[in-house]
Amino acid sequence: MRKFVCSVYVLLYLGHVATGQIIKKSDATSLEKYNVDPDSITVSGFASGGSFATQFHFSYSSLIKGAGIFAGYGPYLCGYEGVESMLSCIRDPNLVNMANLLQMVDNFSSSHKIDDITNLNGSRAYVIGGTRNLVVNQGSLRLLSGMYKHFGANVLDQFSIPVGHGIPVNNGRGAVCSAIAPWSTGYLNECGLNSVFQMLNWLYGGTLATPRAGIQMTGRLIPFPQSDFIKGSAHEISRAMGGNGHIYVPIACLPENRVTCRLHVVFRECSVGPDPLKRFEEEQKLIAQYAEVADLNNIIMLHPSLELMLVPTFMAPGKQQYNDCWDSFGFTGQSNYATKDGAQASVVYRMIQRVLGEF
Ligand SMILES: *[C@@H]1O[C@H](CO)[C@@H](O)[C@H](O)[C@H]1NC(C)=O
Ligand SMILES: *[C@@H]1O[C@H](CO)[C@@H](O)[C@H](O)[C@H]1NC(C)=O
Repeated sequence: MRKFVCSVYVLLYLGHVATGQIIKKSDATSLEKYNVDPDSITVSGFASGGSFATQFHFSYSSLIKGAGIFAGYGPYLCGYEGVESMLSCIRDPNLVNMANLLQMVDNFSSSHKIDDITNLNGSRAYVIGGTRNLVVNQGSLRLLSGMYKHFGANVLDQFSIPVGHGIPVNNGRGAVCSAIAPWSTGYLNECGLNSVFQMLNWLYGGTLATPRAGIQMTGRLIPFPQSDFIKGSAHEISRAMGGNGHIYVPIACLPENRVTCRLHVVFRECSVGPDPLKRFEEEQKLIAQYAEVADLNNIIMLHPSLELMLVPTFMAPGKQQYNDCWDSFGFTGQSNYATKDGAQASVVYRMIQRVLGEF
């Protein structure tokens, strides 16, 4: 119970994020074009990243063919009315007015704030809500799954795994299955299931080869400056999209090898702490988890990154703390944060266009 309360405070505090100071990272070379099938693009994420995966899928449904959501914060637009609605979404799914949300989705679609919602018909979603998750009520993920089904998506649900707040894995890298995954394990929990493989295999129609546990990555992890994709407003810069992202490229997918590959975008969970190097060390555990599926199946993995920002904390007035999150309830102060024009979504969309050779 204590842990649960803490997490709720973290969310409340995020509702009070103002502007912050961005940590600078070393230079990297521009993201390149790769040989990618434009009909193969999928996304996934955990927690705030899971919510963002949903937002990105609904926003750009003409481009994104599937989404994997690990403990995201409920259905699309659930946090639209701000941090209080977001808290109901994650704690009290019974309070969520689904009819209203479905109407909002239809409205967003007909006013072109998001792509035509009929694109979701036949697309794929993987939705996992653990029975032991004390941060996000499993019922919230059930609502998300219901929303996907309402719009005709093919959904693989996982609602019987005793996972806490983490991504189930089966290779000894994770924390205890029922834990609130600590950042130090890359948000991975040891539950006897490789859910990253299961998710990707579902999104790609059950055609993928299964990685052996503990296999080493063989591809290249290439940093790139995200500033190339910040066009327009200073708003995009101030919303923590500076610094370097990474692209993981299996050997077969290097341009000289002329193989057509798939593209998957990973939205990781928020992290805390002022040390960017340590934070990247931890992120690499998540990158490795995806890479083992990528190498075997020619999937390029795009890992956009949010910069840590020094922001005021809700818990200790007058003090500041480093944090970074995908915006799932408007804490960036943008009313369009959950649509195509949201700052974070626009930047990631341009990265995908670059990989396709169109930006
Ligand atoms: C959707 O749009 C209709 C027509 O413009 C409007 O009456 C309704 O209030 C909107 N519903 C929501 C939930 O935004
Ligand atoms: C999805 O498309 C099929 C085939 O066109 C159609 O029969 C079905 O009603 C559609 N589902 C939704 C939810 O729109």
